[in-house]
Amino acid sequence: MQSLLIIGYGNLAHSIVKGITPNTYKLFVLGRDFEKSKAFSQDFPTHLIAPIQNIQELDGQNPIILLCVKPKGVQNFSCDFASPLVYSVMAGVRVQSIISQFPNALAYVRAMPNIGALIKKSSTALYAYAKDPASLQEAKERALALSLAFGNAVWVDSEELIDASIATSGSSPAFLSLVAQALIDAGVREGLNATQSKELVQATFEGFSELLKLYTLAEIKTLVTSPAGTTAEGLAYLEERGFKGILEQGAHRSALKAKGKI
Ligand SMILES: NC(=O)c1ccc[n+]([C@@H]2O[C@H](COP(=O)([O-])OP(=O)(O)OC[C@H]3O[C@@H](n4cnc5c(N)ncnc54)[C@H](OP(=O)(O)O)[C@@H]3O)[C@@H](O)[C@H]2O)c1
Repeated sequence: MQSLLIIGYGNLAHSIVKGITPNTYKLFVLGRDFEKSKAFSQDFPTHLIAPIQNIQELDGQNPIILLCVKPKGVQNFSCDFASPLVYSVMAGVRVQSIISQFPNALAYVRAMPNIGALIKKSSTALYAYAKDPASLQEAKERALALSLAFGNAVWVDSEELIDASIATSGSSPAFLSLVAQALIDAGVREGLNATQSKELVQATFEGFSELLKLYTLAEIKTLVTSPAGTTAEGLAYLEERGFKGILEQGAHRSALKAKGKI
């Protein structure tokens, strides 16, 4: 069975392991605090995760390495054995930095998951790099299998697009929270109670997610907007006030921040 070493035992590591079917990998966990590694393994009794104190304990096992620590923490972990894949979820840590810590891995994948990982519904952008292109395909298959355990995944073909996905998926659940809150507040303003309003907005988001798979945005808009009708009135107001532009600009600023440009 393929070994998988999880480095880090925080929120995202928990979400990812929750999605992994027991007995898919031989699992190990490593962090800077062995007691926390032990507690992590106890959180998943059926996964049989072995806490380790030193990465060299896995020399000879060639594990996939899952980097799940805060970006500043990666400096504390390195090894020179040949892992088939180093898979990093760390925001803003470039492949070249990861290579300097794990120089002999066959391939490197950067992933940008989002909070949906908590419920196996992450929207994850993936970028793969290998010095030898022959290693790339197999590494991509391994990375995709791991990613699908906690949601959906989309490959991008340049590392810069990992930072770009902050706009579409990394930060966007927070933006959608603002939209949802505004609609709930609007419902209350019109006389619904807060519970009714939240339930109606929540079901609208669920339905919208399914509609997006079946219709274009223009089709959805047309279906709900009759000439001179109620929705047309609301849309016209939002467009006059630049709602779409403001949202797009906010997402752009998040991406700029991820790229270290502001
Ligand atoms: N949460 C998300 O939705 C999300 C989305 C995309 C990417 N990410 C990335 O995922 C990574 C983990 O995020 P998280 O949400 O799981 O964070 P978290 O719950 O705060 O966990 C952080 C992990 O990093 C370790 N760590 C922090 N500083 C360290 C250091 N100086 N040396 C060694 N280990 C250190 C912590 O260990 P200690 O407890 O021992 O400090 C812990 O294992 C981050 O790089 C983040 O950029 C997260």
